[in-house]
Amino acid sequence: MGENKRATLGGRLSAVLVAAGSAVGLGNIWRFPYIAGENGGGAFLVIYIGCILLLGVPVLLAEFTVGRHTHKNSVGAYRLLSKKWSFLGYNSVISSLLILGFYFVVSGWTLEYFTSSITGAISEYSSSVVNAERFADFTTDPVRPVIFTVIFALLTHVVIALGVQKGIERSSKLMMPILFVMLVVLAIRSITMPNGLEGLKFLFTPDFSKVTAKTFLDAMGQAFFSLSIGLGCMITYSSYFNDKTNLQNTAYNVVILDTLVAVLAGAMIFPAVFSVGIEPTSGPSLVFVTLPSIFNTMTFGSLWSAIFFLLLILAALTSTISLHEVLTVYLNEEWGISRKHAARCVTLVTTLLASASSLSLGVWGDFKICGLNLFDSLDFVTANILLPLGGCLTSIFAGWVLNKQILRDEISDHGRLKARLFGLLVVLLRYVCPTLLLSIFLYNLGLFTL
Ligand code: PHE
Repeated sequence: MGENKRATLGGRLSAVLVAAGSAVGLGNIWRFPYIAGENGGGAFLVIYIGCILLLGVPVLLAEFTVGRHTHKNSVGAYRLLSKKWSFLGYNSVISSLLILGFYFVVSGWTLEYFTSSITGAISEYSSSVVNAERFADFTTDPVRPVIFTVIFALLTHVVIALGVQKGIERSSKLMMPILFVMLVVLAIRSITMPNGLEGLKFLFTPDFSKVTAKTFLDAMGQAFFSLSIGLGCMITYSSYFNDKTNLQNTAYNVVILDTLVAVLAGAMIFPAVFSVGIEPTSGPSLVFVTLPSIFNTMTFGSLWSAIFFLLLILAALTSTISLHEVLTVYLNEEWGISRKHAARCVTLVTTLLASASSLSLGVWGDFKICGLNLFDSLDFVTANILLPLGGCLTSIFAGWVLNKQILRDEISDHGRLKARLFGLLVVLLRYVCPTLLLSIFLYNLGLFTL
């Protein structure tokens, strides 16, 4: 069913940039700094890097293996390898849908902050208090955030409708380098602010007295969210890799780029925060409330602010594209709907869900699921339950169920590459990842406390 000939990505660079495009997103620039800020900075960074190496790399390689070996959407890929495990493919489809339900909303906010920076409106809000009010007024408004959410969904749609090569591949190749340059420029600007080095110290000096059991759990969840693993997104993208793509190198490059962007985002945000004497623990509003007040103290503040929010838009867009693609190619290949129609259905359904979740921050706030509004429950269910569960099951599948020869063939490129760490990979997939991930999963469900 679906298209007879499947798209494949051009070269090695495309594979890395497309996968890094999915990984690098609001998770790196919005979520990482505030979670690191709440968990003591440097100590969190050390634990986070440990999680990336122990959990991130093995699960990423497992997903690459499943995708590249089958060249199918996530449901089709699991079904082909083992009928019993096709439910994991559905986990991927459901998680992608639910993540888009809140990710589009936050992406819409970045669009609004960008336009307000361009028009200069943002510079009218000078103090943190006024900024916090503005943020609250905007996000709870019944109309404006919904409009920006819809615009962002349409932007994503345009890229998906252009197809894998002309849309996804080209846009990542264009946007990723721009993103990187902007991030470096902003980090330099921030570090050179008075007292800026204090922020770097906070990021790089580990103070383990701030570490609690929750720090480890936050770091694990953040590693999964940031690498886009545990929900089949990387299965979908690697299904477009060609047979010459070196999976090991691609995985290492993606992990390095993703971590580098998170660290650079920290190096951009903390020096600025310290320079104006604000606490780095202000949580999710760090980027939308704290930073704009800092920009306002700078010469050409609106310009810096515009660059920063453009950076967030590009990072968010390459991630929403990957989530949208999981759903589009699923409908296309499994339901036999043409790619165009599939993309339209996905845009329609995700836009409706995201609009409802935006409204749940304001006028529909009374509607609660287990005490949380729709926006918060989508965030909670995906990041705290579905991703760790998906990651745990993916590692069990790759470690115990999948024919070891398939794993070895894909990782070693059919014997062409050395796979010296193959034994270690199998141990990590079989024992380490499931145990660690199961504990985060049970902890998040509140089944045990630390
Ligand atoms: N990794 C993306 C980020 O850091 C979010 C994402 C999660 C994208 C899962 C796709 C799949 O923002």
